[in-house]
This record gives sequence, C-alpha cells and structure tokens, in this order.
Amino acid sequence: MVRFVTPLVLASLSVTAFAAQSCSSSSQCDEKYPCCSQYGECGTGAYCLGGCDPLASFSLDSCAPMPVCESKTYTWDNLDNAVTQDKYLGNASAADWTYSGKVKTEDGNLIMTMPAKSVGTLFANNHYIWYGKISGKFKSSRGKGVVTAFILLSDVKDEIDYEWVGADLTAVQTNYYWQGVLDWHNSGNISVDGGDTFNDWHTYEIDWTPEKVDWVVDGTVHRTLKKADTYNETSKQYEFPQTPSRLQMSLWPAGQSSNAQGTIDWAGGEIDWNSEDIKTVGYDYATVGEVSVKCYDPPSDATKSGSKSYLYTKSAALEGDISITNNNTVLASLGATGLNMDLGANKSSTGSNSIPTSNGGSGGMTSNTTSESSGSGTSTTDGSETSTTGFTQGTPTGNGAAGQNERVLRSSLFGVLVALVVLVTL
Ligand SMILES: *[C@@H]1O[C@H](CO)[C@@H](O)[C@H](O)[C@H]1NC(C)=O
Ligand SMILES: *[C@@H]1O[C@H](CO)[C@@H](O)[C@H](O)[C@H]1NC(C)=O
Ligand SMILES: *[C@@H]1O[C@H](CO)[C@@H](O)[C@H](O)[C@H]1NC(C)=O
Ligand SMILES: *[C@@H]1O[C@H](CO)[C@@H](O)[C@H](O)[C@H]1NC(C)=O
Ligand SMILES: *[C@@H]1O[C@H](CO)[C@@H](O)[C@H](O)[C@H]1NC(C)=O
Ligand SMILES: *[C@@H]1O[C@H](CO)[C@@H](O)[C@H](O)[C@H]1NC(C)=O
Repeated sequence: MVRFVTPLVLASLSVTAFAAQSCSSSSQCDEKYPCCSQYGECGTGAYCLGGCDPLASFSLDSCAPMPVCESKTYTWDNLDNAVTQDKYLGNASAADWTYSGKVKTEDGNLIMTMPAKSVGTLFANNHYIWYGKISGKFKSSRGKGVVTAFILLSDVKDEIDYEWVGADLTAVQTNYYWQGVLDWHNSGNISVDGGDTFNDWHTYEIDWTPEKVDWVVDGTVHRTLKKADTYNETSKQYEFPQTPSRLQMSLWPAGQSSNAQGTIDWAGGEIDWNSEDIKTVGYDYATVGEVSVKCYDPPSDATKSGSKSYLYTKSAALEGDISITNNNTVLASLGATGLNMDLGANKSSTGSNSIPTSNGGSGGMTSNTTSESSGSGTSTTDGSETSTTGFTQGTPTGNGAAGQNERVLRSSLFGVLVALVVLVTL
C-alpha cells in the first residue's frame, strides 16, 4: 500500500481528518460531506466544484452551480490565469484553469510534464461549455505507456475525447461516452498526416453542437457523430454527450504497472521511467500551443432564467434537464457546499490571502502550499509532482481501452486530497 507522508497535514491541526466516503450514482454522499468529486469521494469545497457529480452527491444541488461558457483564446506567456486546486473556489472569471502536476510556460507554449514515477499533469478549464468549438494546437508526448489527452468531460461523465498514445505518433484516437457508460464501439482512430504528433504541431478541434460532434484535425473533418445515430430504442434516450462539459488537458501514465493490463496494453506497454525525454530533460512532456473555445448558443428550448450558471434540474441529466440561471458559482470557503455556499464567509484569516479552511470535509486543504516529500509519495499543492500510485487502479477492460473509471481516476487533481485520507486510515 502506498504511504503518503504529508507534513502538510501533520502540521496543520485545522484539518479535521475523516475517512473518505466513496460515492457513485447508486451510493450517494451523506449530508455532511455532500459532494461527490470527479474521483468518487465525498467532501466539501473543491469536491463541490468542477467535476462534482450531481447524481452521486447527496442531492442535485449539493454541487455548486457551473460557470457558463465563455468564448476565449488562451495563450501561454505565463500562468497567471491558472491556480492549483486549493486556490479555486468557483470564480472562473478570476482563474480560467485549475491544475495539478508540474507545468511551465516556454516560448509562449504550455508544457505539461510527467517526471519519473509521477501521475503527470491535469490542466482543467473552469468554465463549462454547453456546445461549442474547442480548438487546441498540440504536440503530444511520446513513448509507450504515456498518454496525452484533450477532452471534454461533463459532471455526469458525458465525454468527447482526443487521446494520443505515445507508442504511436502517426495517429490520434477519438472517443465519446454518454453518462460514463462503457461502450467498446465508440472509439476511432484518425491518422495524422504531415510529420508525427510529437515533433510537429497539429490543430485538433472538437466541433460540438446539439446535433453532432465533429473531430477536426488540421481543418479537415475526420469523424462525425450524429446525435440521431445514438438513439437507444429501449431506453428511448439519445446516448449522446449533451451536458455542460469542461475542457481537460492531461498527460498521464496509462502504462503504469499498477494499472489494469488492458489499459497498459492499450497504452502500448508499460511505461519506461528511464525514457529518452526523462533522461534528457527530466520528464515526459506534451506541448500545448494556442487553445480556443468558441461557445455556441444553448439548445433553443433550454430553460433560461439567467446567464451566469448551469444547473441540473432532474436526475435523468439529459439536455432538457439543464437550466441556465443567475445562481452564484462561488463558494465562500473550502468548507462550503452547494447547500450552504456562504459557509465560512466571515472566517477569512488575518493579513494573508489564505482561503478559510474547511469545516471538516476532505476538501479542506489549507492554503499552505509547502510540503516536502518523503517516502514513496509526495504531496504538494503548489504544482509540483504528486505521486499517487495507489490511485490509478481501474477495472479490467474488455478490449484494451482504458476503462472509464480508470480514465477518470487517473488524474492527480484529487490525489493530494485523497492522500490525506489515506494517511489517516492507515
Ligand atoms: C439558485 O438560487 C435560488 C435563488 O437564490 C435558490 O433558491 C436555489 O436554491 C438555487 N439553486 C441551486 C441549485 O443552487
Ligand atoms: C470573481 O473574480 C472577478 C475577477 O477577479 C471579480 O471581479 C469578481 O468580483 C469575483 N466574483 C465573486 C463572486 O467573487
Ligand atoms: C487504433 O489504433 C490502435 C493502435 O494502433 C489499435 O490498437 C486500435 O485497435 C485502433 N482502434 C480502432 C478503433 O481502429
Ligand atoms: C439501451 O438502454 C438499455 C436500458 O437502459 C440498456 O440496457 C442497453 O444497454 C442500451 N443499449 C445500448 C446499445 O447502449
Ligand atoms: C458576514 O459578515 C457580514 C458583516 O460583517 C454579515 O453581513 C454577513 O451576514 C456575514 N455572513 C455570514 C455568512 O455569516
Ligand atoms: C505554512 O508553511 C510555512 C512554511 O512551511 C510555516 O512557517 C507556516 O506556519 C505554515 N502555516 C500554516 C497555517 O500551517
């Protein structure tokens, strides 16, 4: 078992440790820690923001309302618009991105890195998109077991993907999911012409409307998914990605030995922590150039009472169950939840710009960002690497593609938070 040594916790008596409750749509969180994070753990604060699953949370309104789509072009002269998870309380206007892992900017590009034995980088946009054209200029990572991803993911796990498997630099894989249901027939490869995906820039776009998804590489439509073709006669539903989604860019060790064999095989084999890139620059990496989001109008029949946030109104979580409102998206503290967004409002500490600590949930990271590594795991919240080798286990998969849970669990964003829990439950 992985043992995380986190002086952060030991030093910080204000964090009330508790055993993390796991959650799913068949086993919701309780009222005290009502929010089910993207990674299936109950908590408050960060757990109620991006990725919070309303269907697995205590109630549909436990998660904070989702900031609406904002058309924007992102370039990378600095990381001023990106914060680590412990610094984000739901104000997407103040921080466009939250991230974990080691990232840097270089020559106007964003470099997502994965040093040896780390879980890589996750860079997630805080604005939700409810249909739009999302475009990214990328150079993928390389090497077996190393996967780069550019995806849209909703809180109920509708998903539209581009994934580059580092063992094959001639193609990009595409995929989609509806509400996290695994279907082995949804993936498709696009071969990338003109140089390889690691050395050469290519532009990858997702053009997502209420009627279809186009995957567009270097200006050419290579794949189209029509909503009409996803109708399920039994359930009388369209199994089409249709809920507000966040853009997530990541670099992750799919070929890590602790992963399911199917995932390792899909990733082209076990990862080589002594790869050429790790030897020469100290990490595997993917390079991100300009990223842009152009929002499309919401569906013409969408329920609209405002313009600031999206809300789920029914647990079927289909397109018609989303409402556009003026509800606030910002939590007052890491102890707050969608059920009590003002909790901790008046506790802000003296002098420093620290976030009030939680009232107990495991979302209660303190604002202290220094933490030295020791033992087999390191845990920092300032953008340094996080090693959570116990956190990427997945279910064995049928055809070799990564399972949905594994693919969602792969990210280190909440690894730090979960590490706190691991520590106290040992
Ligand atoms: C949205 O705001 C209204 C009015 O303040 C409030 O009654 C309602 O509970 C909020 N809904 C959610 C899901 O936060
Ligand atoms: C969000 O951040 C923006 C920009 O920093 C600021 O103007 C605004 O007041 C903040 N909103 C809330 C609700 O905190
Ligand atoms: C995509 O390419 C990979 C690697 O070459 C292969 O294993 C997989 O079967 C392909 N998938 C499809 C849907 O063709
Ligand atoms: C269609 O819906 C039924 C009932 O929810 C489900 O059991 C079945 O797996 C679905 N079929 C497909 C192809 O997704
Ligand atoms: C915080 O304090 C202000 C005045 O200092 C007060 O008006 C407000 O109601 C307080 N908020 C909460 C949630 O206690
Ligand atoms: C934060 O960390 C610094 C340096 O490690 C330490 O001096 C300080 O007391 C810590 N603050 C809190 C609130 O834990």
